[in-house]
Amino acid sequence: MIDVAERFETKTVHIGHAPLRGVQSKSTPIYQTSVFAFEGLEEVEQFYAGEGEYVYTRNGNPNQAELANAVARLEGAEAGVSAASGMGAIMAGLLAVLAPGDHVLASHEIYGGTYALLHNELSRFGIELECIQLGQMTKLADHVRPTTKLFFLETITNPLLTVVDMPYWIKEAKSLGLTVMVDNTFATPYLVQPISYGADLVVHSGTKYIGGHSDVTAGVLVGAQPTIKRATEIIANYGASLSPFEAWLTSRGLKTLAVRMERQCENASKVAAFLRDHPAIEQVYYPSPTDTFFFSRKKQGAMVSFVLADESKIYDFYRALHWIKLAPSLAGVETSVSHPVTTSHRAFSEQQRKETGITMGLVRLSVGIEAVEDIRLELDAALGK
Ligand SMILES: Cc1ncc(COP(=O)(O)O)c(C=O)c1O
Repeated sequence: MIDVAERFETKTVHIGHAPLRGVQSKSTPIYQTSVFAFEGLEEVEQFYAGEGEYVYTRNGNPNQAELANAVARLEGAEAGVSAASGMGAIMAGLLAVLAPGDHVLASHEIYGGTYALLHNELSRFGIELECIQLGQMTKLADHVRPTTKLFFLETITNPLLTVVDMPYWIKEAKSLGLTVMVDNTFATPYLVQPISYGADLVVHSGTKYIGGHSDVTAGVLVGAQPTIKRATEIIANYGASLSPFEAWLTSRGLKTLAVRMERQCENASKVAAFLRDHPAIEQVYYPSPTDTFFFSRKKQGAMVSFVLADESKIYDFYRALHWIKLAPSLAGVETSVSHPVTTSHRAFSEQQRKETGITMGLVRLSVGIEAVEDIRLELDAALGK
């Protein structure tokens, strides 16, 4: 890996480059191979003695390593590992730290898939989950048990885009001896690096801003070397490795993270301001500069959620959109919308919807890189009908 200048914008472009030995390709080739060949048994012996890097793609591949190392360096972590999806990376991080009997504290506003993994799957291995409302408390001590091992939170939550005082909560959890894992998918290391505040593990759905083009499913986990080594074994054993091509595409997307984020955040803040003044909108969810005081840039992310004043118009709104697509994901260069109640939060009861504010009229908007005036015009037309 070449050493590059320290600025984030330069690092994202140059950080990951794994050329073939002896060949000066400008971009990294795709190592589309399931296995690596050896010169002879001596080389096999050397590999198992720890001298070689790759034997079998499920255990490791240069394209997987390129992506993992790049995200680790951008997040300021010692090491990283890639996985077949964000969920694969979250699973590996959790299993690398947890054992049967352990208790996990998590913010109640975590991604539904993470909740399902902990609540439906890891519970079968004797791991207990407790969700807590960080907005309504100041101390973790009342919830910590002798078996509490891990504290899990997201930098910007989905779909209400809440930003809690992460530096405070990490300090609080560390003072109680907990391992802290942060899902930084919505913010990306462009906006904030949780490890600089003491987080132990940071995870990404690479499917989102890291890849940035809605064309891959990938995940990355970064942290200290021993935990990442264990997570790498777990990914290989559970068969959750990222394919070389998907790793290559994600690394390719990562190179433009800084320019994409700059443009998408700028567009999002203008769209949020426009929506706040729109008569058809009852409420806009977009983090304030006060919420994001600990971000390394004066930007609040590229996701905006809003509630229609008349929720009976929700079907008309989606129908009236012309080029902004309804798609239950986010973070591509193209603006898209999703509808949490009928997709990610389908399982919520009417009562849960009322309690959380995830109502029928709620729209989640992922702002892309288009001309902001076109985004405004498209939304205005759909809202007006
Ligand atoms: C915040 C967050 N974390 C993790 C995931 C899971 O990622 P993947 O779909 O790549 O498995 C998602 C997916 O939407 C997400 O929004």
